[in-house]
Amino acid sequence: MKIYPAFLSFLFITIFISPSVSDHCNAQDKKVLLKIKKALGNPYLLASWDPKTDCCDWYCLECHPNTHRVVSLTLFSDDRLTGQIPPEVGDLPYLETLLFRHLPNLNGTIQPAIAKLKNLKMLRLSWTNLSGPVPNFLSQLKNLTYLDLSFNNLSGSIPSSLSTLPNLEDLHLDRNKLTGTIPESFGDPSVLFGPNKTTFEIDLSRNVFQFDLSKVQFPKSLARLDLNHNKITGSIPAGLTDLELQFMNVSYNRLCGQIPVGGRLQSFDYSTYFHNRCLCGAPLDTCK
Ligand SMILES: *[C@@H]1O[C@H](CO)[C@@H](O)[C@H](O)[C@H]1NC(C)=O
Ligand SMILES: *[C@@H]1O[C@H](CO)[C@@H](O)[C@H](O)[C@H]1NC(C)=O
Ligand SMILES: *[C@@H]1O[C@H](CO)[C@@H](O)[C@H](O)[C@H]1NC(C)=O
Ligand SMILES: *[C@@H]1O[C@H](CO)[C@@H](O)[C@H](O)[C@H]1NC(C)=O
Ligand SMILES: *[C@@H]1O[C@H](CO)[C@@H](O)[C@H](O)[C@H]1NC(C)=O
Ligand SMILES: *[C@@H]1O[C@H](CO)[C@@H](O)[C@H](O)[C@H]1NC(C)=O
Repeated sequence: MKIYPAFLSFLFITIFISPSVSDHCNAQDKKVLLKIKKALGNPYLLASWDPKTDCCDWYCLECHPNTHRVVSLTLFSDDRLTGQIPPEVGDLPYLETLLFRHLPNLNGTIQPAIAKLKNLKMLRLSWTNLSGPVPNFLSQLKNLTYLDLSFNNLSGSIPSSLSTLPNLEDLHLDRNKLTGTIPESFGDPSVLFGPNKTTFEIDLSRNVFQFDLSKVQFPKSLARLDLNHNKITGSIPAGLTDLELQFMNVSYNRLCGQIPVGGRLQSFDYSTYFHNRCLCGAPLDTCK
């Protein structure tokens, strides 16, 4: 057991020395985080954000294991957090994840300073009282794979620039007041869904979208599609039978015609299709 003393002294160093000598947190990040805390009215959620301690130990955030820069900021479930998303969030340049969720008193529009976060992969602003449009500037966040703006008070239409996000896999815009059609550009019938996209999941349910579903081309990668409760017209395109769909819901729209036979389309129950204008065929009643 010759290593035993060496191990003991390692333990000693780990437990008693390192916390006192090292403040891993980047000083600039720390300054910005304290400004964010103040701008949000010093909510209880951020009680651990004590300027005397290492910010990489604070709740609601994560630092990169090597660079110690803040890479994730996740604020959720606090009724007392009030006001708007502070512009200082744009001054955490290494952020890859930004989440504001279940914050009923967070209001205003989607903070334009978010456009500065070029490393952002996941943006979730959900279950808040944010209003205004889905902003154009989101298209500048080229590394975005996951965009969730669901359960807010957003209005207007989806900006066509969103279609230029090369890596978007999950798009959740459900439960807002969004209107209009699926954006078109560059001759692709629907660039958001276009055939060469990598999108895995699209949820546009419970909005006021109006477009002709039969004209939409779906990416081969699409596995989950929720369009329920909109004003979508046309019929269900035969192309959907080619997809490995795990989930689909087109109920409560204005669709018509026969549900194409094949693929996974008959594996879903009637509630995937019900409450449309005149859809028919399995799993609904046979067409007359
Ligand atoms: C959301 O904001 C609207 C005004 O835009 C306000 O009337 C409403 O009370 C707010 N809701 C909550 C839950 O704070
Ligand atoms: C946000 O809510 C606060 C208080 O609830 C209110 O004073 C402020 O006007 C609201 N701001 C916006 C942009 O709706
Ligand atoms: C985006 O991701 C790639 C690959 O993960 C990375 O090299 C790049 O630095 C990231 N940031 C931007 C702004 O593209
Ligand atoms: C959306 O705004 C309206 C008033 O404009 C408000 O009554 C409602 O509570 C808001 N919805 C959410 C989810 O905050
Ligand atoms: C999709 O990719 C194929 C092959 O890479 C290309 O020929 C086609 O033009 C692309 N379609 C669109 C709409 O970009
Ligand atoms: C589809 O959505 C409707 C409306 O929200 C719901 O009643 C139904 O259960 C859903 N069906 C499936 C399979 O998700």
